[in-house]
Amino acid sequence: MHAIGVDIGGTKIAAGVVDEEGTILAQTRRDTDPDDVASIDAAIADVYRELSASYEVKDVGLAAAGFVAADRSGVLFAPNIAWREYPLRDKVAALIGDPDVRIVVENDANAAGWAEFRFGVARDVDDMVTLTLGTGLGGAIVIGGRLVRGAWGVAAEIGHMRVVPGGHYCGCGHEGCWEQYVSGSALVRDAQAVAITQPDRAAGLLERAGGRADKITGPLVTRAAQEGDELAVDLLREVGRWVGEGAASVAALLDPQMFVIGGGVSAAGDLVLAPARNAFAEQLSARGHRPEASIVLADMGNDAGMVGAADLARV
Ligand code: BGC
Ligand code: NA
Ligand code: ZN
Repeated sequence: MHAIGVDIGGTKIAAGVVDEEGTILAQTRRDTDPDDVASIDAAIADVYRELSASYEVKDVGLAAAGFVAADRSGVLFAPNIAWREYPLRDKVAALIGDPDVRIVVENDANAAGWAEFRFGVARDVDDMVTLTLGTGLGGAIVIGGRLVRGAWGVAAEIGHMRVVPGGHYCGCGHEGCWEQYVSGSALVRDAQAVAITQPDRAAGLLERAGGRADKITGPLVTRAAQEGDELAVDLLREVGRWVGEGAASVAALLDPQMFVIGGGVSAAGDLVLAPARNAFAEQLSARGHRPEASIVLADMGNDAGMVGAADLARV
């Protein structure tokens, strides 16, 4: 049976018709405004209409970047989108207006990690953690082949584990959350800060950004690093170091076989992975006396959330 998966990020949604093997048969996207939640509902209904014109689909999975309720009906809270106790499923259902369409809401990173577990780099692994480094840091935990949801649906919100007491402010209202050190937003924040305070050191980045600190983006930093820009390499090394340090703590708790690193920042590949592996090795307790989790790149690219949401909508 085909299902539709919709990945809802801060600034865009991507939707696709996905078959049972995780293959995308058709896809489409829309830009959205994270502060205007009604416009997100409308965009979801709109992509459903577009895709269902050519495919007969009744299962729809919405991957939402926030704390999703255990009954998969909506979002309790989102740090980077204006959802608060938001009944996303019913809002979208009302717009679609077809009682035969079954909609479920999933956490975006749970969906992405699920796609890696079902069809991607972790398909032969039973115990794994996916870290999705995008606007925020999302997590997915699979233990014994099952997605861990917790008592209230909000397990694997690992982006909000505190790694630095008194550290950077986070959209969740706390300080020092892991996502403030490894997400794409963190990378951009730090790159722009250096560009403002030490323009000489950031000359390469500024040149690529037309001289404007506020035009420095994550992909721009990654490109610069790939071309050997020293600051960009340093910034990504720092992201990687925090990935590894945090992963060592996660290993203490969950003992996964594999950490899958996905999301936009993972496009930097070894520039992030190598320092992540080093820091993980340095921080892992009982190292040398226990088997060690591998840290690998995600396989499913930007489509992971869409594919995972569609797959989870069927179960
Ligand atoms: C949110 C998560 C989400 C992650 C990635 C975090 O800030 O709390 O719900 O999965 O960002 O989008
Ligand atoms: Na999650
Ligand atoms: Zn936080």
